Amino acid sequence: MSIFRELTEGLPRQAPGSAAATMRALGLIRGLPDQPRILDVGCGPGAQTIDLARATNGWLVAVDIRQRFLDELTERAAAAGVLPQVTTINTSMFDMDFADASFDLIWSEGAIYIEGFAAGLAAWRRFLKPGGWLVVSELTWMVPDPPAAAAEYWARNYPGMGSVERNCQLVAEAGYVSMDGFVLPVQDWWNNYYEPAERRVEELREKYAGDADTLAMLDETSREHDLFRAYHEAYGYVFYVMRKPAG
Ligand SMILES: C[S@@+](CC[C@H](N)C(=O)[O-])C[C@H]1O[C@@H](n2cnc3c(N)ncnc32)[C@H](O)[C@@H]1O
Repeated sequence: MSIFRELTEGLPRQAPGSAAATMRALGLIRGLPDQPRILDVGCGPGAQTIDLARATNGWLVAVDIRQRFLDELTERAAAAGVLPQVTTINTSMFDMDFADASFDLIWSEGAIYIEGFAAGLAAWRRFLKPGGWLVVSELTWMVPDPPAAAAEYWARNYPGMGSVERNCQLVAEAGYVSMDGFVLPVQDWWNNYYEPAERRVEELREKYAGDADTLAMLDETSREHDLFRAYHEAYGYVFYVMRKPAG
């Protein structure tokens, strides 16, 4: 089994988030039809997919390239009693070939960065019905001059990270309206994401004691957690809620 798999398997989420934040973002949307058609891009193990299925009673199409995450989602959806509402598709977000205007809502927590914020906004727009909604969460700079350690780390790991102002400008340039959103609370990084990941790192440190390469990879994961502990005022996850114009 790969170390990445050992690090991530069975964890509740693969990005910062919470059911409360998903519901708060959903609450910013107006006028969804009964049983909306929803596309969840980069769904991972599907915590938000299940919350959306429950809250909207809609039909969910959940896309990811890791079958293992889709299997975890299927198990969790069955346990939650929403499996009939959820279809999983193992495909890349770059290769999605849904019909134009086939979704009322596109959702993506912590995954649009893979395509790139601006590129994802542009590419996914055609899948939305006129008046349909797009909700994404995205790692975002909160201050104009971040501390050097944070700037250096994220320049290596996510050089495309923008500010709220920049991202709002990209949303408008991509032809969306009704911009709204909020910053994910700090505890939503720790409770369901960094804390379970850190416990997993500690288990793996024991398992791989003496394996310098693996220990170095585990150190890099811990470094991301330490960095956020020190500099969480400099960057955060932001929910961006937007709409494709109706006419
Ligand atoms: C940071 S995780 C977020 C997962 C989930 N939304 C969550 O919040 O727990 C990013 C997800 O995108 C998936 N992914 C990576 N590359 C992808 C691609 N090209 N197309 C679709 N999904 C991809 C990963 O497997 C992973 O599940």
